Formats: sequence, C-alpha cells, structure tokens
Amino acid sequence: MSILDALTKPVGLPERYHALSEEEMVQRVREIKKELGDRLYLPAHHYQKDEVVQFADDTGDSLQLAQLAAKNKKAETIVFCGVHFMAETADILTEEHQTVILPDMRAGCSMADMADIHQTERAWKMLTESFGETILPLTYVNSTAAIKSFVGENGGATVTSSNATAMVEWAFTQKERILFLPDQHLGRNTSYDLGIPLEAMAVWDPISDRLEYDGDYENVKVILWKGHCSVHEKFTFDNIAQVRRDMPGVNVIVHPECTFEVVQKSDFAGSTKMIIETIERAPSGSSWAIGTEMNLVNRIIQDHPDKNIVSLNPNMCPCLTMNRIDLPHLLWSLEEVLAGRKTNQISVDEKTAKFAKDALNRMLERA
Ligand code: 13P
Ligand code: SF4
Repeated sequence: MSILDALTKPVGLPERYHALSEEEMVQRVREIKKELGDRLYLPAHHYQKDEVVQFADDTGDSLQLAQLAAKNKKAETIVFCGVHFMAETADILTEEHQTVILPDMRAGCSMADMADIHQTERAWKMLTESFGETILPLTYVNSTAAIKSFVGENGGATVTSSNATAMVEWAFTQKERILFLPDQHLGRNTSYDLGIPLEAMAVWDPISDRLEYDGDYENVKVILWKGHCSVHEKFTFDNIAQVRRDMPGVNVIVHPECTFEVVQKSDFAGSTKMIIETIERAPSGSSWAIGTEMNLVNRIIQDHPDKNIVSLNPNMCPCLTMNRIDLPHLLWSLEEVLAGRKTNQISVDEKTAKFAKDALNRMLERA
C-alpha cells in the first residue's frame, strides 16, 4: 500500500470486532481457515501472541519465515503474522499471483525505522568519499525494502540473526570493509565473534551524519549503523548480576540484538531458533534466564515445566509492534480475504523488489 493509500483508505479495525467474545473470534477464525484451505497461508513469527500463534500454519524466526515464504507457491493469500519488514520480505520472495496481507498496518519495527533510505544514501556517499570502493553493505532483514534494495544494488546481502556470522564472513571475501545496517549490536557481536577487535569498528550516526571513530580510518573494518532494538536493549549487565545472585548455577542465554556488554557476560548468545533449540536440549532441572522477547520467553516457560526458566529482565514487556497483531485483527483480515478484498496488502514496487530480491537471494543461497 502506498503512503497515499494508507492516508486515504480506512485501515483501522472496524468497531464491530470490539464487541465479539474470544470464543466467537476463535470459532470464526477456525471456520474461515477451513473454508479457505490451502488458498491461505498463515505464517507467524515466534514473538507473536499465543492467541495468534494457535492458528499459524508455520512458526519460525526471520530466516525460517523468509525461507517458507519463498517455498510456498500455492497460497493465493499470505496473512503474515509478524511485523512490516517481514511481510515486505514475503512479498518480495513470493510470486506475482500471491497477495501478502499484514493484519495491522501499525505493526512496524522501531529498529527498521532507524535507517531510512535517504539517510543511507547520504551515509554511503560520505563513506565512499572516505573509503573508496572498499565497502560492502550488509543489512539485517529488520530493515525496509528500500534499504534491502540499496544493499542489493551495491552488491551486498541481507542477514538474519541465524546466519549473520556466515554472511559477515562472506562479505569479507568480497570487500575489505562492511557497512552493517541497522543494528549496531548484532553487527558488533557478530564481527567480534569472528575475531575483529572493537578498535576496528566505527559507528555511523545517521542523525548527525558523522562517523564515530578516533583512530586512523585505514584500520576500520566494520562500520556499524547506530540503530538498535528497543526490546533487546533493555537487558542489562545488572539483570545478569541479579539473576546470578538469585539463581546460583543459572545459564544466561540472550539474543545477539542485546548489547555487547550483555552478550559478553552471558553464557550463550544466539538467534531465536538457537535459543529455542538450546532450551529444548537442556537437561530437566536445569536453570535458565532468557534475554529475548517476552511472548516467546513465556511460551518457552510453558513448554518446559521440567526446567527452571525466567526472563532475564523480570520487568520486561513484549515487543509492542509485534503485539499489534491480535485475534480481532487476525479475524478481520481473514474476513476481508474471504470477501475477496485486499485490505492491508503489503506490496513492494517492482524496482525496489528487484534489487531487494538480489540481496535476499545472496543470503538464502548461503543460509
Ligand atoms: P530473529 O527472528 O532473526 O531471531 O530476529 C528477532 C527479531 O527481533 C525479529 O524482529
Ligand atoms: Fe523490531 Fe526489536 Fe520488535 Fe524485533 S523485537 S520487531 S527488532 S523492535
């Protein structure tokens, strides 16, 4: 949907959905799913609410959902339960005849919003003036289609938290330096794991259009975009110290969107998939403090009653934009699909999609 469409067409949840009971909504979603059969595909990110996840055809992390979207050629409509950039990715990777719907257009991502295309083009111009043709851009999939397109057009690729290490390694086979957008923490944590010292990492501030770096530019290997996840940045060193005091023997496991300090003080760090699989494999009776999104942590706790699991930050909130997708919005979307309307369609224009797909495919070939 274009900005003009978004401004001129009603996109809000109709009033009548507020009056429905949970039972009525659950029943109706079941019926519509049955009626649409495999004309509908409903993927959900692991951070989605249980009331939505219960209806998912597949759940996954960002990489798995991108792979699944690329594979599904059958469904006419994909009702994507996740955030905006994930639905854009699905639209780019699916076929022309497939329509991608996001149940609530307000389900954005504050991290993706931290890099816009104009800032990126300005940064690129200034950075290439300083570093010449030595930089390869990489972008976390948590970015707009326009950023993915920019990266693809400049020979780079997307990464997810599941394959960031492999993608950064690949990038250094292409160029001397990388520009990593938009999550400075994932970029820093991944590069450090690959043996790149912090002194070889500079930070690009898109607000002041300035490179934050004290030394000789010749030594810069990684340029980190100054963006972050407002959910994962809330886990702190103090949370780790506290949980180690409260639960002797606890294993601390965090997502690499957490800060460098938190990742360094943890016992394990890895993607959503890695966190889920690590807890699945852990012995009964073991203790875990998990530093990631709250809906997922609560689900892991429910699924493993034989283990002592807590959130690393007891005052943590779920990701508010992920949470915008709820049962009423899901039902509304499905009723619109059933009525043949493309309400809240996510459609990436052809030119943007072309290079964005190059960036995504460079990742999917290696994932
Ligand atoms: P992954 O699904 O790649 O672990 O990313 C987490 C996230 O923050 C998604 O928005
Ligand atoms: Fe964006 Fe963070 Fe929410 Fe993921 S958890 S959607 S990165 S704000």
